[in-house]
Amino acid sequence: MDFKLRCIACGAEYLPQEIRYNCDCGGLLDVEHDLDSLREQVSRELFDNRLGDLALPYASGVWRYRELILPLDERAIVSRPEGNTNLYRPSTALRRSSGQGSGHCSLGLSNWLGVDDLYLKHEGENPTGSFKDRGMTVGVTQARFLGCRAVACASTGNTSASLAAYAALAGLSAIVFVPQGQIAFGKLSQALAYGAKTLQVRGDFDTAMRLVRQTCDELGIYLLNSVNPFRLEGQKSIVFEALQQLGWEVPDWIVLPAGNLGNTSAFGKALYELKELGLIGRMPRLAAVQAQGANPFYRSFLGGFQRRESVEARTIATAIRIGDPVSYPRAVRALRWTDGLVAEVTDQEIMDAKARVDAAGIGCEPASAAAVAGAKKLVEASVIGRKEKVLVILTGHLLKDPQATVGYHLEKLAGLTPAYANCPVAIEPTLEAVQEALEGRL
Ligand code: F0G
Repeated sequence: MDFKLRCIACGAEYLPQEIRYNCDCGGLLDVEHDLDSLREQVSRELFDNRLGDLALPYASGVWRYRELILPLDERAIVSRPEGNTNLYRPSTALRRSSGQGSGHCSLGLSNWLGVDDLYLKHEGENPTGSFKDRGMTVGVTQARFLGCRAVACASTGNTSASLAAYAALAGLSAIVFVPQGQIAFGKLSQALAYGAKTLQVRGDFDTAMRLVRQTCDELGIYLLNSVNPFRLEGQKSIVFEALQQLGWEVPDWIVLPAGNLGNTSAFGKALYELKELGLIGRMPRLAAVQAQGANPFYRSFLGGFQRRESVEARTIATAIRIGDPVSYPRAVRALRWTDGLVAEVTDQEIMDAKARVDAAGIGCEPASAAAVAGAKKLVEASVIGRKEKVLVILTGHLLKDPQATVGYHLEKLAGLTPAYANCPVAIEPTLEAVQEALEGRL
């Protein structure tokens, strides 16, 4: 196997057959590819030639890039398949952008955000409705390769939904730890429906995270949170696929929501590797966006990353309600590699941005909208230029959190004043009532 595990803190090396998530020194681990030999093997053409392949592994938007993910025998791969998510381009309504899976969306969104050259990659279009499937196909494949029979994670919802589905596909036993009463209903329903043993922990996500680590260590269960470096290898494919859809033209910015910081870390590693391999000529800048009430990474950023901060997290965007992100050191590295930054947005800004994305006919869950709100804020602050090419990642599907959406439109979210509420109207079953309700609308 031409890859190894390497500690990002002290550089110690481990074999990929070993079950471990941290170095003996406590540092986080990377899957390290042999970039010198990969340079001979991979090219844009190689990946472009695989587009349109209907069979696995290349039908997957993760395994299409298998040399850069995990060079395993394809018969070992557990895949739905995942990826191949759309890249929406708010431009003129009639012009279609070139490239696979591209489309258009409302001009209003681009105007509202203040950027002409805007792209939205919708990771909510993955099989279980979030980007987590990209990491899970790799994590569960590795679990099977290692001969593990049970897999577990702590989750704010999406990871648990994805783990439950992929474990079912692979015939593994799934155990998920979720903070009781703090995950969106769509996600809880998925974990239950896919058959995961669901433990509702009385505590927050960070407490559940500590408990699952302890449990996995003690009971020999394979841990599939993003501390697991194989998960991040799969999530790198969001960047690979987006760049391929853009004809390998590098955007100026990639904006994404940040919670446990797995995705920020994966994006940094993907870009670093692409640059080292000569597949891109320059780095885009990463902008990681946090909710103001769950902003430890933002606080660390303000202090020049001198200190690792933690907070007691609180936000309507439950997916990113995380106070002590596990992948912190890897995410700091990602921002250093890409001259990146961290922004924060309020719940009000998140939900208003979500309403705009939803009303454009695209839709996303609250955490995803944090990235859109963050991009808007950075444009308003002239950090992102209006003429720059901006790629925003929508991480989860609109239907994940119907409570937040309906609450917004019914104006029932505590402390929020919706700017774009679309309140339903109750009417008598008469044509007159319909006409009255539709006044000014037709
Ligand atoms: N967006 C969504 C929809 C998420 O579910 C998550 C994380 C994030 C953004 C943040 O990504 O953690 O890599 O920084 N959800 C995890 C979960 C924590 O358990 O589903 P991150």
